Amino acid sequence: MIRSLQHVGMTVPDLEVGRAFYEAVGLQARMAGEHLVMRCKGRAQDQVRLIPGAEKQLSYVAFGTDAQGMHAIRESLSYHGVVLHPAPFEIGSEGLWFRDPSGDWVHVSESESMPAGHLPTPELNTPGRYRRIGERGCTPTSRLRRVTPLRLGHLIKFTSDINRSIAFYTQVLGMKVSDRAGDAVAFLRCGCGGDHHVLGLAKSTHSGLHHLSFEVMDIDEIQLGAQHLMSLGYESAFGLGRHVAGSNYFHYIRDPWNSLIEYFWDIDVIPEDCEWEAIDGTPQDVTAVWAASPPPETFIKNFEVARDD
Ligand SMILES: [Fe+2]
Repeated sequence: MIRSLQHVGMTVPDLEVGRAFYEAVGLQARMAGEHLVMRCKGRAQDQVRLIPGAEKQLSYVAFGTDAQGMHAIRESLSYHGVVLHPAPFEIGSEGLWFRDPSGDWVHVSESESMPAGHLPTPELNTPGRYRRIGERGCTPTSRLRRVTPLRLGHLIKFTSDINRSIAFYTQVLGMKVSDRAGDAVAFLRCGCGGDHHVLGLAKSTHSGLHHLSFEVMDIDEIQLGAQHLMSLGYESAFGLGRHVAGSNYFHYIRDPWNSLIEYFWDIDVIPEDCEWEAIDGTPQDVTAVWAASPPPETFIKNFEVARDD
């Protein structure tokens, strides 16, 4: 029923700190009323909405679907006794507002995933498939390449009850489990197929944002983007590496509020009719094929303060 991740909203104590960070990540920022909204260059879709607040907290996740999906979701919410609420945030979009089992706000509207502003991809020379002939792959100025993420691919958020959250997102909103590690972490895709995961759930005592993940053009952009952020004083949290769940290459950087952004490239894509067999292993089984160094213990720590509600 849910067909796309649209954007993520969070409260932060200082919008200008947020603007500096996300512009360094490579996104474009603009004010929308009291909020600061980030988009990817060349893509007409909000990706992150920062709302002024006392401290940094995940505020809501906005998903998109089609007219048929809206009807089905309304019916499903009603069937499962999920209460609809008036808009808790003014985001300039009609749609349904309700809470998930973690108490996190969810917004669903009739909206499509907008095409990303892809550039021509450099050809790769892989053994037996040499495609870049008589042409340099790199030049002395390659290191100056500035990274502009193509789209927000997914988020991972914390929940106190993985199984209850999985049941909600699969049974009520039609998502599917692509991989999981027991009740520690789960990766969910849209029922219509697409990226291996648009929503991840990680176990904690309470809700919070773990990371937002942005697709880039290639593995060079992952590391060039990460190095640029590190040169500005932002901290590397995990990477460079390659995940098992999703198969994507990754590098995670801490945002100014101790959650993370991830640059990713080469994620698994799963069609709607695919007989996908989900892994259910240990956290180590799904975390990384390889990485520059093991994940620090703080990688999976929830730094967000529990909400009162
Ligand atoms: Fe990720």
